[in-house]
Amino acid sequence: MLILNCPSKLQLLEGLLRRSLPHTLPAYGAVMHINRGNPVQHEVVVDSWPEVKAVLTRPRQEVVKDNLDYYANLHAAFYWDIDACQALLENAEAIDWGRAFQLQGLQDGMYEATKSIAETKCVHLETYAYQTLMHPDPSTLHPSRFRSDVFHLGILSPSQATLLNEAWDFGGNDRSLRYLDSLIRCFPSACLVDKAGQLISWNLSDPMACLTHGYTLPQYRGQGCVRAVAQAIAGKLYSRGFPVYCGILAENQPSKQALVRMGFHILPETYYMLIVTPALNLQN
Ligand SMILES: CC(C)(COP(=O)(O)OP(=O)(O)OC[C@H]1O[C@@H](n2cnc3c(N)ncnc32)[C@H](O)[C@@H]1OP(=O)(O)O)[C@@H](O)C(=O)NCCC(=O)NCCS
Repeated sequence: MLILNCPSKLQLLEGLLRRSLPHTLPAYGAVMHINRGNPVQHEVVVDSWPEVKAVLTRPRQEVVKDNLDYYANLHAAFYWDIDACQALLENAEAIDWGRAFQLQGLQDGMYEATKSIAETKCVHLETYAYQTLMHPDPSTLHPSRFRSDVFHLGILSPSQATLLNEAWDFGGNDRSLRYLDSLIRCFPSACLVDKAGQLISWNLSDPMACLTHGYTLPQYRGQGCVRAVAQAIAGKLYSRGFPVYCGILAENQPSKQALVRMGFHILPETYYMLIVTPALNLQN
């Protein structure tokens, strides 16, 4: 395996991944961010070069200091060859299985390989299988019907991370708060506030350029709020050349419906978000 540091090789890899979209989401989004300023200091590991058969993106070693912080220790994988992927995931220099981490990808083989390695290593694996939604042409997004006389469209500020953390089903702790704070600081976001400055609706994007954390306060739902923020953020990503996509739990009908009404397509691929936490005796 090798860490790909050379900018021209990273550009070449980006082109390779683009040719295999949408299967290469979210690794492609991560590589795009790495090639455009690398705001959260991620890096790319490949099995070999120039004949790449498997790709892994991950934070640089010095970035995540907390061994149990799977929010920040975010990895994405893509393979053209499942054996190369399995070998990369098993390689202790590619992934430290003694620390908590998250692994994302759209390929069933990646999930199965992770599951079998987790069993061998006796670590805990939590599997989230989302539906993948992608917009085929974000230039066609129409303006939302939200009331611009009542709400103001803007971007989130780090001081609002606490409110987002309270509203997040998978958050509510110090690590998730740190993670949300870094998303707000480093990646495109959008929000609606009312005249008094109260936050009404928001949407973020993450290190894989995936749309995430779409939310509207219950009393403001059904007024076109999330449509406005999702379209604002989609427009920002699209203007920078990013694909516009996200993962939604199959049972989350309101979110799915909102995205489908905006023109997103539901792809056949499952969006795996795998959370690995080390065995108790490895935690410190
Ligand atoms: C899903 C959610 C973000 C929608 O927010 P919202 O501001 O009410 O959505 P909007 O008013 O902008 O609606 C956008 C479109 O979705 C449709 N929609 C919204 N809620 C819907 C529902 N419950 N059922 C069916 N369709 C719905 C609307 O008809 C609208 O389409 P239109 O503009 O063509 O009429 C909101 O219900 C919410 O915050 N849910 C909890 C958090 C959540 O699940 N977030 C997603 C995490 S991935």
